[in-house]
Amino acid sequence: MIDLRSDTVTKPDEEMREAARTAEVGDAVYDEDPTVNELERRAADIVDMEAALYVPSGTMGNQIAARVHTERGQEVLADRKSHVVTYELGGFAQHAALQVRMLDAGPRGVPTPEQVAAGYIEEDLHRAGTGLLCLENTHNARGGLAIEPAAIADAAAAAHERDVPVHLDGARLFNAATALDVPGTDLTEPVDSVMFCLSKGLGAPVGSMLAGSAEFIDAARRTRKLFGGGLRQAGLIAAPGLCALENVDDLETDHENARRLADGLAAIDGFDVKAPETNIVLVDVSETGREPEAVLERLRERDVVATQFGPTTVRFCTHRNVDREDVDLALDRIAETFG
Ligand SMILES: Cc1ncc(COP(=O)(O)O)c(C=O)c1O
Repeated sequence: MIDLRSDTVTKPDEEMREAARTAEVGDAVYDEDPTVNELERRAADIVDMEAALYVPSGTMGNQIAARVHTERGQEVLADRKSHVVTYELGGFAQHAALQVRMLDAGPRGVPTPEQVAAGYIEEDLHRAGTGLLCLENTHNARGGLAIEPAAIADAAAAAHERDVPVHLDGARLFNAATALDVPGTDLTEPVDSVMFCLSKGLGAPVGSMLAGSAEFIDAARRTRKLFGGGLRQAGLIAAPGLCALENVDDLETDHENARRLADGLAAIDGFDVKAPETNIVLVDVSETGREPEAVLERLRERDVVATQFGPTTVRFCTHRNVDREDVDLALDRIAETFG
């Protein structure tokens, strides 16, 4: 099976398994797990923020951030295709009593300063008031786009001018940094908090990091407990997370494989392929005359799996458990099926 559904399907390697086996642990809710403490210190350093918090998932990291940054009943501004709006079960309403004001942030999914200004609501007797701007990098649903530091900085500045904090959903932050050939800190410097995942392209089995000011992380730690994310001897899963932080440089291989896959797919009749910027390849299959489900079904028969992403789109995602040979084999099978 060549699994191109997501970079979340990666399995921990031997080094990670060994790190888990030998990890020093303690009760992380009492801040007594040395491995978790080290992971949190390293993560904060990597994004140059005062502090970081280990959370079970990217979703929980985003949800905690929204809850801590805002007051009940405020609005959050976010692109209509962002993960927080589309794929987190309306969590902002459920966990933070927020109303989402969706922007159509255009093909790159990052709002311009003018869009932030237009979406901003000043609180008064009748209006809720904007409490948060959420950005995403890479932008998953828009095709794994690597959003440039200047675009992040401009959007964040427009929010900050209005005293609105900015949270970055950086589930694939290091894919963006790798593609743009900039340090991750260039992408996090303009924002107040960032979540990045260890469990996607970096290959850890579990967990994401939420980083921000020391005060923000203190509050986030309480909210994590409230959300049921206070883990005890979490060093067992944090240790592979520390290994994952060493894998940032490997992401370029995933991007090369994505470009190779995209080039091969583009040669197949009816496949309209969006050129990938990172490890995500979106293919509009409408010209094949088949629904995405039917395309995926035929691929599955050949032991190649991908995911549906919208009414006419199939998403392929490269990751550390598929290599160049797997990509070529997948392309051969896809071409035999649809060529
Ligand atoms: C952009 C983005 N944000 C957040 C998440 C949530 O991460 P998790 O699956 O760890 O909850 C994902 C997961 O795919 C994602 O793609």
